[in-house]
Amino acid sequence: MAKGIVIYYSRSGNTKQMAQIIAEAMNNAGLPTDCKSVDKVKAEDLLKFDAIVIGSPTYYGHMAGPIKQLFDEAVSLHGRLDGKIGAAFSSSANIGGGNETTIMGILEAMLIAGMVVWGDSQGDHYGPVSIGKPDQRVEKQCARRGKRIAELTQKLTA
Ligand SMILES: Cc1cc2nc3c(=O)[nH]c(=O)nc-3n(C[C@H](O)[C@H](O)[C@H](O)COP(=O)(O)O)c2cc1C
Repeated sequence: MAKGIVIYYSRSGNTKQMAQIIAEAMNNAGLPTDCKSVDKVKAEDLLKFDAIVIGSPTYYGHMAGPIKQLFDEAVSLHGRLDGKIGAAFSSSANIGGGNETTIMGILEAMLIAGMVVWGDSQGDHYGPVSIGKPDQRVEKQCARRGKRIAELTQKLTA
């Protein structure tokens, strides 16, 4: 059976809250999904999942170090994440503070790993973004993304 994981790094809880909403939506849409802080995940663990969703606070317009480190360690699996479904999300302090470049950095790494990335024409295009603590708009975007990822994963693994 297909499985998903939402991995996040979070110091003050904003990205973690987004992760929990996305994982809950994936589970509710019928895709069994774990939700884990990046320090509880090893690169080899990624092999067990069909959908991998990664969230980071925006640090200087990029992913935080621990998320980058996970990707750097995943080089040992190069080629083995091919065809898995990927998605990303980010929390920043400011509008224009670099949350979309952070998401794009994560998606670029996923694409290099051969993963499948799905945009959204109606919701947050690259992935859910939050300015500080998630508000209702962000909660809706996270739930929407989780549902879409679960549905795509079920389609591609059927
Ligand atoms: C080292 C560092 C760098 C940051 N860089 C940015 C930045 O470039 N743009 C921005 O808007 N916020 C920046 N922030 C703020 C965080 O992205 C923001 O507070 C985020 O919501 C924190 O997420 P968390 O609660 O999951 O830890 C930075 C914070 C830290 C600690």
